[in-house]
Amino acid sequence: MRKRIIRAQTGYRIVAIDDEIGIIDSLSVVLRKNGYDFTGFTDPIEAIESIRQEHYDILILDYLMNPIHGDKVVEKIREFNRDLYILLLTGHKDLAPPLETIKELDIQGYCEKSDKFEQLLLLVESGIKSIVHERTIRTFRNGLDRIVSSAPEIYQLQPPQEIIRRALPQVISFSNSNDIFVMVDDPLKLFDDEKESIFVGIGKYSSENNFFPDKLEPAIIEDIFKVRTTMQPVYKKDGTIILPLSIEYKESLGIIYIENSSIEGSDEILKLLEIFTNQISASLNNSFLHSVVNKKNEELNIAYEQLRTRYVDTIEVLRKAVDARDIYTRGHSDRVSYYAVEIGKILNLSDAELELLRVSGIFHDVGKIGISDDILLKAGKLTDEEYDEIKKHPLKGAQILSALSTFKEVIPIIKHHHERIDGKGYPFGLKGEEIPLYSRILSVADAFDAMMSDRHYRKKLTLDQAIEQLITGSGPQFDSIIVSKFIGLLSNYDKIAFESESSY
Ligand SMILES: [Fe+2]
Repeated sequence: MRKRIIRAQTGYRIVAIDDEIGIIDSLSVVLRKNGYDFTGFTDPIEAIESIRQEHYDILILDYLMNPIHGDKVVEKIREFNRDLYILLLTGHKDLAPPLETIKELDIQGYCEKSDKFEQLLLLVESGIKSIVHERTIRTFRNGLDRIVSSAPEIYQLQPPQEIIRRALPQVISFSNSNDIFVMVDDPLKLFDDEKESIFVGIGKYSSENNFFPDKLEPAIIEDIFKVRTTMQPVYKKDGTIILPLSIEYKESLGIIYIENSSIEGSDEILKLLEIFTNQISASLNNSFLHSVVNKKNEELNIAYEQLRTRYVDTIEVLRKAVDARDIYTRGHSDRVSYYAVEIGKILNLSDAELELLRVSGIFHDVGKIGISDDILLKAGKLTDEEYDEIKKHPLKGAQILSALSTFKEVIPIIKHHHERIDGKGYPFGLKGEEIPLYSRILSVADAFDAMMSDRHYRKKLTLDQAIEQLITGSGPQFDSIIVSKFIGLLSNYDKIAFESESSY
């Protein structure tokens, strides 16, 4: 039992098993001369144990051996190592194992023993090339696996700082560095006079280490500027890597700065880092777009709210103008609104419904703004044409209020406040319950306040006369339930009259 170990300074590790010590010696000379790290065994069992515990790149194996043949050795090794590259040495072509066995055991090649080792060296060289390719593929596959598996976390819609924090562990593992920072422009501040950056750093660049971006050395700032201008990564000999983050690969978004990386000259890892950087860029873009859209939405909401307030103010002015045009109708809308709400309370309406009644009462006659003073303020009897003109005010009011969605529910109430239960009202001649409940309430409140006010053509009625008129109209003109409820309320008229004047 003999074991010879000759180690080269560099290169790949080759292990050989042959029960002839002469072969092991020759191999060690030839392979060492060619720069390989060589270990030889004459005992297959001992060799298997060594392969189990140490890393080798290539195994050169004798086929006919004692106590076990080469194919059995391979079988045992394949139980725990699928990666080892195996070359089989045979005494003579006829003594080689069948091709099926070679394929089955994942043996990469075989050659006949000879005193000259040219053929074997060629096989070893091609084996090394194959190992390099295999490793490149594996590095890519593992790296891409890591990138893909981190994608859901990074692509979640979240603030840019969070995206960067979640991406950093991958950057650390690709670069083998712990001193890293990411700096990106804050898109919400892009149009401000002073642009602001989002900065996330680890290691010596972390805020825990009292680091602030304004402490960056001028040389680093210069390098960053260069990367941002050229949009090309910078790899320095001292292990510094600066990668550009971009908007759709064109416009600079920021950079990833990695210090003291030890990637051991691996182009694959650098490529993976670039792929991952693009992924971070894409995710940041998503987040930024979302923030910008949100900000614009907020601005739009504010603008809409201002517009709405202005429009409501305008309508408020309009309806006050309507009331004020006629000395006899001053305060009419406010009182109608008040009565309607009081009726609503007796009918146990909800707060929201009472609010709807209140607003409907206030604006019920806003459409009169479109009717000329000659008709509206006429002292004498109206002609049919003039009356037709008056009858347009519920629809005109609905039209004025239709510009704002706020008044959506108010519009039908206002549209029908002059309908009658018997269908003889206007503008549509609706009957009974075809008329919205709130319009029916408004109708009673409106009529009562008109009766209780002086008009151009008549003096105001007394309370008793007004109640009588309501009773007369109950059924054909007014909803009888609403009238009876309202009359009940009027037993306390003095209080109501006082409140209606003072509550608006
Ligand atoms: Fe009216």
